[in-house]
Amino acid sequence: MQIFHADIVYSGSRDALIVHRDSYIAVECGVVEGIYGELPEKYAGAPLTDYGSGVIIPAFSDLHVHAPQYPQRGLGMDLLLADWLNTYTFPQEARFADPEYAAAVYEAFLNSLIENGTFHACVYGTIHRESTSGLLERMESLKLRAYVGKVNMDIQAPDSLRETVEESLRETEAFLERYSANRYSKPIITPRFAPTCSFELLKGLGRLSHKYHAGLQTHLVESRWEAAEAVRLNPDCSCDTQIYQKAGLLENGPVVAAHFIFPSNEDMRLLKQYNGYAVQCPDATVNVIAGIMGTASLSEAGIRLALGSDIAGGHLPGIYTQAARSVQLSKLKAFYEPEGNRPIPFANAFYMATREGGALFGKVGSLEPGYEFDALVIRDFSDPFRKIAPEETVERFCYTGNPADILARYIHGESVKTGCA
Ligand code: GUN
Ligand code: FE
Repeated sequence: MQIFHADIVYSGSRDALIVHRDSYIAVECGVVEGIYGELPEKYAGAPLTDYGSGVIIPAFSDLHVHAPQYPQRGLGMDLLLADWLNTYTFPQEARFADPEYAAAVYEAFLNSLIENGTFHACVYGTIHRESTSGLLERMESLKLRAYVGKVNMDIQAPDSLRETVEESLRETEAFLERYSANRYSKPIITPRFAPTCSFELLKGLGRLSHKYHAGLQTHLVESRWEAAEAVRLNPDCSCDTQIYQKAGLLENGPVVAAHFIFPSNEDMRLLKQYNGYAVQCPDATVNVIAGIMGTASLSEAGIRLALGSDIAGGHLPGIYTQAARSVQLSKLKAFYEPEGNRPIPFANAFYMATREGGALFGKVGSLEPGYEFDALVIRDFSDPFRKIAPEETVERFCYTGNPADILARYIHGESVKTGCA
């Protein structure tokens, strides 16, 4: 049993933050036992860590991030998707044929993830199985809850990143077979997006998804170009999402759709039918896509929404920065396209960043009893000019914070040290 004292803030529901001021949180075997205003007598002898005026919040979940793109963050941000992929991303990813280079990059990437308080993530590797296996194994050893994908591409990709259907399926099956029984970091099927995957490949992946009960992550109705290209390549499908349905990729595990900015009604109907996530990556959409997700309208349509950094389409690793950006973008969307759109409250963005995103991985993303104590302690953001409430500290952290503002990090109740704290 461990006891922590501070202000405590987490999402209760989509639009409501729960705030416990000056309270005690009891953690037993890495799981929250309860939150108390006064320390119960029975815990009087338990070890107590006092964070004073700090604020304890759940750790963040990043539902869309490309680990191999970490070295290119903040580069080529004046290009749009197809040019950015061809000029920066594909040459960068080709280097992961070398597992030693991969291991060094992935270590730096994971340090950045942990420093920024992201302990749960849906991660893309590259087409290279050995390098991607190294990433998954390292995440498992760090007890990071994750879905990790070996990327599939067999058409419209440079020679260095293009697989045959046979080798793509063989390597994917070996990856699924090896890691499906993992406890923390599990494999997920990761066709890059429809423009680089033949239907034959997708159908083969659908069979593997069935055999290994594996889910799907991909980029879906990401840009107008991508959505049109998907249907051009698959003329008997009415929309991008239907391609994956026909391939049998939506029914065997979680479905995680990055971007989902230009969905048709049929895309929305299908994603909802399979209880899939639409993942907003606010910085990436401004940088390389130039489209804004209709967060309010999707959420009113009953679609699950979470946030992603999309490193390196997005340039910042912290999901807290993306929560702030999500609020900003919702205002722009409502201003330029008022019909069906409205600004979202900050509590809604924090919910996507923690509780709703975390639900993909199990009992993480909240601090209610029964949830894992995957948590961060944020410094009090009051300044000499204005004392602010704990929930205001959380908002100010998301808008102005950085890793140095995180005083402590806990994964499954265990303290994790980084270069920052
Ligand atoms: N669409 C296909 N590949 C990518 C990628 O690497 N990043 C982003 N943002 N979109 C993509
Ligand atoms: Fe992406």
